[in-house]
Amino acid sequence: MTTSTTRTSSGELSASASRHLLLNMTPNGSVGTDGDNLFVVQRGEGPYVDDADGRRYIDGLSGLYCCQLGYSYAAEFAEAADRQLRELCFSPLWSASAHPTAIELAERLSRIAPVDIEHTFFSGGGAEAVETAWKIARKYHALRGDPGRTKAIARRGAYHGLTVGTLSFTDDPGLKEPYGPPAIETRFVSHTNRFGLSGELADDAAFTARLLRELEDVILAEGPETIAMLIAEPVQNRGGCITPPEGYWPGLRTLADRYGFLLVADEVITAFGRLGEWFGGDRYGARPDIVTVAKGITAGYAPMGATLVGTKVTEVLNRPGAILNHGYTFGGHPLSAAIALRSLDIMERDRILDNVRALQDHLATRMTSLKTLPIVGDVRGAGFFYACELVGDLDDGGFSDTARAALVADLIPRRLREAGLLARVYNRAAPLVQIAPPLISDRQLLDRIADIIADTLDEASARL
Ligand SMILES: Cc1ncc(COP(=O)(O)O)c(C=O)c1O
Repeated sequence: MTTSTTRTSSGELSASASRHLLLNMTPNGSVGTDGDNLFVVQRGEGPYVDDADGRRYIDGLSGLYCCQLGYSYAAEFAEAADRQLRELCFSPLWSASAHPTAIELAERLSRIAPVDIEHTFFSGGGAEAVETAWKIARKYHALRGDPGRTKAIARRGAYHGLTVGTLSFTDDPGLKEPYGPPAIETRFVSHTNRFGLSGELADDAAFTARLLRELEDVILAEGPETIAMLIAEPVQNRGGCITPPEGYWPGLRTLADRYGFLLVADEVITAFGRLGEWFGGDRYGARPDIVTVAKGITAGYAPMGATLVGTKVTEVLNRPGAILNHGYTFGGHPLSAAIALRSLDIMERDRILDNVRALQDHLATRMTSLKTLPIVGDVRGAGFFYACELVGDLDDGGFSDTARAALVADLIPRRLREAGLLARVYNRAAPLVQIAPPLISDRQLLDRIADIIADTLDEASARL
């Protein structure tokens, strides 16, 4: 048998991948065939990863917003895994049966969860957690004699997963193609990006009022009795780390209470320290009924998703005779639960949230200073989560096809990689450079990340 450790080059791995592996969100037919453009990550250490040819990179994206602790806690996680697997490798959370590790994790999460949230339903990842939120919302309304609440509200440009259900809440026609009409009827309202808005809307109070008025108009037009839930991220990832204006989340709470729908905070990216709090919504006064998490819950050391459910909802779900007819065989897997518990231990012991809190202003200053570069239109974010929105050579700030191809699709991602930084470069409607570094990053590393982005965008500005 051949394993990756016996291979010597990325070329060999690329060739094998092109023969046998289908990648996510990838033009598979054109990747890896000549061994050139498949990026093979082989090992990690601290906040760095090495490719299969031994080149080292700062992992400025923490895997895909997963590896809060970077890559050097293997011994501790291996010990937790070893202990769990020797005791119990698997048992489902199914039909009035459970195992101690999932019970302990659920209790532990209730201690750090947003106010009035005591229960957790486990799943395998983010999309499963979001679908669970939807099914719980529907079940909640049905049990209360309100089965006509069949619609969801989400925000424009948002991403909440790619399964057939969650794709309904994901606002990207390219991703929905060719999978037919959405499974769940969803209306989209504006997100909270204020870049480009001028005058009174640059003011938080006016902007918040406009957003909430728009939302209320949609609710009234649809019929409040048809809306089951609203789903939103505390800081929206798609569109570039879009932070909310003051008063926005409290305003969502007011509308949810007024019209009887559930408020779901999708914290798949923003929970577990990304914004310097256990839950990103805590920064913005969010009081959701349901919170969805995944990614950072295990710091990337095992797969897991979870849906945290408030007491208002569980009081209905847990009525005598009511059955939550939903589940995933591997939801709350003992191995993942043990890893999540150990990750929470490490985050507390090593004061990971304090590290983000201590350095977030510095990162904000470094990132905001990029605004002086001609190609940078806006810089947004919070905690260890930032994006630069790029502006191009056209009068309205857009990119001509030539500039987009030369800079956004080629020069910027290439230079970042050459300089040893993994960052996300979106080449969509609003081109972006985004970072979400491991939460263990120190000041020097954050400076290095900011320097690399500055040099790259400086060169790109000169070529605009
Ligand atoms: C906000 C948000 N929700 C849901 C998901 C789906 O998570 P998964 O890819 O684990 O299914 C993602 C994935 O990036 C996400 O960013």
